[in-house]
Amino acid sequence: MNNMGIEIIDLKTDKKKEKIIKIIEWDDKTATKNEHEHFMIKEILEQPEIIKKASLQDNEKLMKMAIGILRSKQVIITACGSSRYAALIGRYLFSKIGEKFCDVVMSSEFGYFGESIDKNTLIIAVSQSGETADVLEGLKQAKENGAEIYSIVNVADSTIARMSDEVLYLNCGPEIGIAATKSFLAQIIIFYVLAFAMDNKIEYANKKLMKISDLIKNDIADTIKTTKKIAKATKEQRDFFYIGRGINFAVASEGALKLKELSYIHAEGMPAGELKHGTIALIEDKSPVVAINPNDYTYLETLSNAEETKSRGAQIIGISDKESNVYDHHIKIAKVDEIFYPIMCIIPEQLLAYYLALECGKNPDRPRNLAKSVTVK
Ligand code: M6R
Repeated sequence: MNNMGIEIIDLKTDKKKEKIIKIIEWDDKTATKNEHEHFMIKEILEQPEIIKKASLQDNEKLMKMAIGILRSKQVIITACGSSRYAALIGRYLFSKIGEKFCDVVMSSEFGYFGESIDKNTLIIAVSQSGETADVLEGLKQAKENGAEIYSIVNVADSTIARMSDEVLYLNCGPEIGIAATKSFLAQIIIFYVLAFAMDNKIEYANKKLMKISDLIKNDIADTIKTTKKIAKATKEQRDFFYIGRGINFAVASEGALKLKELSYIHAEGMPAGELKHGTIALIEDKSPVVAINPNDYTYLETLSNAEETKSRGAQIIGISDKESNVYDHHIKIAKVDEIFYPIMCIIPEQLLAYYLALECGKNPDRPRNLAKSVTVK
């Protein structure tokens, strides 16, 4: 019997087993829908608070990990699905803020790069559940090859967390919706603080993130209204194209994934510059093109790519702080420092996917064929 009064018995041998019981600080409020129709909308709306919670990490640990990343000869981030798109955003942040190049390898392909992983490699695993089979498999192999493992996970004491030399937790509470929403945003926030730690600017990052959290909170009601309208206007369309350049390409990819998994509408996320190399052939009258187009270093070029599709009949949904007559629908975001725009674009994408799922008569909490944690290869 342990000090919680719990006894664990092995049913095969009938013998008592000694187990260390850990208490996870998740309250039951976070695991119920409360007044919301779906877990997904509840979790989307929690995000202004999640920004604050995820950004508050142990600064000493952050610095230690930032130094570890900067000193590593080779840094590879590995993840699946939405976590991989968070990793891609992280990759740009490491380069832009920490001036550190790293690569992102999707976990299901990671094993095929085994020969180039050694003791000079630092692997960063990103996973909400901490149990995704493909990620675990890759980590096992990397460990055998002598690599060091850092991870960014939500579920405390999960297998990935236990396998890691250093762990940062998302602090976003249980995510019940199958679609990653708040965990995705929390992963990104961790990449921000880690990248700013590389530049010795954790305090600066925290201050900025607090302000961003307030801006999002103020705008969320308007974003709901706009995305509901756009969902109504586009619900008959069967192919959506999400475009963005630079860091916004990763944001576009996540938007497309959300739409696919919730409404079963085909969607592609791609670097805007790649359109003309093939995909533009698919643009027809009224094809929705979602341009992730904040007023940053990618603005003009993305706008011009959106215009190219418009001239072939596309309807443009612009996610931007800047108005443009290229947009048939405009989801307005608040103006922030350039580097923080990805955070502003994510909630509009999630809401658009949520309302499109409802318009298509799908239950966003129960997408077909999907499991919250993919524990098989
Ligand atoms: O638990 P993980 O973050 O490792 O899960 C990875 C993917 O299975 C997950 O992100 C999946 O793509 C979500 N359903 C996306 O919304």
